[in-house]
Amino acid sequence: MDLQELIHTSANRLDEAKVAFGHGTLNAQDEAAWLVLWQLKLPLDFDFTDDSLRTQEQATALNLNVADISAAHIQSCQSLIEQRIQTRKPAAYLTREAWLQGIPFYVDERSIVPRSFIAELIAEGAFDAWLSETSHSFLDLCTGNGSLAVLCAMAYPEIEVIGADISRDALAVAKINVDQHQLSHRIQLVESDGLQGLTQTFDCIICNPPYVCEASMQGLPAEFKAEPLLALAGGTDGMDFIRQLFHDLPDRMNHKAILVLEIGNEREHFEAAFPWLEAVWLETSAGEDQVLLVSKEALLKIDMKS
Ligand SMILES: C[S@@+](CC[C@H](N)C(=O)[O-])C[C@H]1O[C@@H](n2cnc3c(N)ncnc32)[C@H](O)[C@@H]1O
Repeated sequence: MDLQELIHTSANRLDEAKVAFGHGTLNAQDEAAWLVLWQLKLPLDFDFTDDSLRTQEQATALNLNVADISAAHIQSCQSLIEQRIQTRKPAAYLTREAWLQGIPFYVDERSIVPRSFIAELIAEGAFDAWLSETSHSFLDLCTGNGSLAVLCAMAYPEIEVIGADISRDALAVAKINVDQHQLSHRIQLVESDGLQGLTQTFDCIICNPPYVCEASMQGLPAEFKAEPLLALAGGTDGMDFIRQLFHDLPDRMNHKAILVLEIGNEREHFEAAFPWLEAVWLETSAGEDQVLLVSKEALLKIDMKS
């Protein structure tokens, strides 16, 4: 069996078993490629359709014949695929690794698997127009495994970042990532319920909070239930955390500060909860409904109207 066939049969097995995707891949083929390449210690961008010398050299260096995978290697890949099916855990909890914008992050069951669309916006500089030369102080609220804090620190070498989360477990995972990326001199991790544990003011706050509404929580596939409940559940309309945030945030925002907020598929609930809010919807690969930007001025206005 060659590598392509191994990935193809693994994908068929995932499809048959009706596993759910959405933690870094969106279909069985990509998920199977990820797990098989990881298990064989091949780079995840390994081009197995390419028979160039470079590709062959990469495989040879790993003592692997991609045209004829050994029985032992096939068996180890099949057993990882079965583990994925039996446990219904997201692949990243099995490999202990997730990738965002080409950057690797450690992850385990103590924090959600990182997949925020804010990562794309940071990479594209999509909110740069709202920042200035003096925007030095960033907050990654609800930091989880710290990936967005790390991506911000990488994208903006001048800034200092606080990564805050209510979960000590998540912060322990974030610390691993901050240390692995050698950013502990610029990223401080703080245990905080919303903004309560913080005293600073900020120029830019990014936040991917728990926002899943009660009805959606009921229907979540097992893969999502394998993640910390605290990371997902946002109350009846998904807006519990955000309501408190909008109330507390203006006092913590410097002049001209912005909030970049992810709300997933909850735009309807969001607009019903904050009908007067002037938000700028930022386009991501998931469309224009998932992430919004609000200024301090806009937040002060809703405070006056409610
Ligand atoms: C959707 S996850 C986002 C994690 C990470 N930022 C990411 O994008 O992968 C939400 C995070 O919010 C944290 N959280 C939940 N309630 C919180 C609260 N009241 N205050 C601070 N963090 C909270 C959870 O522990 C979880 O890590």
